[in-house]
Amino acid sequence: MVDKKFIIREAKKEDASQLIELIKTIANESKFLTFAEGEFNTTVEEEEDIIEMSLQDHTSLFLVAEISGKIVGNLYFSSGTRSKTIHFGKFGVSVKKAYWRLGIAKKMMFFLIDWAKTNKITRKINLEVHEENINAIHLYEKLGFVVEGKISRYFCEKHTFHSAIIMGLEID
Ligand SMILES: CC(C)(COP(=O)(O)OP(=O)(O)OC[C@H]1O[C@@H](n2cnc3c(N)ncnc32)[C@H](O)[C@@H]1OP(=O)(O)O)[C@@H](O)C(=O)NCCC(=O)NCCS
Repeated sequence: MVDKKFIIREAKKEDASQLIELIKTIANESKFLTFAEGEFNTTVEEEEDIIEMSLQDHTSLFLVAEISGKIVGNLYFSSGTRSKTIHFGKFGVSVKKAYWRLGIAKKMMFFLIDWAKTNKITRKINLEVHEENINAIHLYEKLGFVVEGKISRYFCEKHTFHSAIIMGLEID
């Protein structure tokens, strides 16, 4: 029986190797990440730097979902770096398959939206999602994201192209 009690918190440097393993696992479990199996080659040091930067930067957020000390999900949001683009950012979210449908992604996104509403800089959250990723599209719609467009040939899998759906949420 899967332990269902999870906590959401900001990532810390010591999470780096667990996060790398998690992302590799999810890349095997889902075809909807942008990297295929074996393509996620970030080193522990690089991952630590990303975490450290997100802790220091007021317009980045790196969240993890933890169950009994084990990281089972993550969300990473980063913003534009120039004055004209710093008000928006985009994010990716993923959860290990054994823990799907427990509300983990939803909780991380609520955290992101609350954080965006209070950081005084973020006014828009954008995302791109594979056109066939119905679960994720349901999740985003549930949280108020609206479809803003589509980019054709965004993904190429075994010589077949797929579009990305562009969705966004304005932050008041
Ligand atoms: C998409 C993903 C992040 C959802 O994570 P999750 O923790 O299972 O999602 P939640 O439990 O918070 O579900 C929230 C809502 O999303 C929708 N949803 C999630 N999984 C679903 C499924 N299997 N079928 C239908 N709707 C689903 C539902 O509306 C759900 O709300 P409900 O349970 O109240 O009906 C997860 O399936 C995942 O990591 N997939 C692989 C990576 C990925 O696709 N990431 C997104 C890339 S853009």
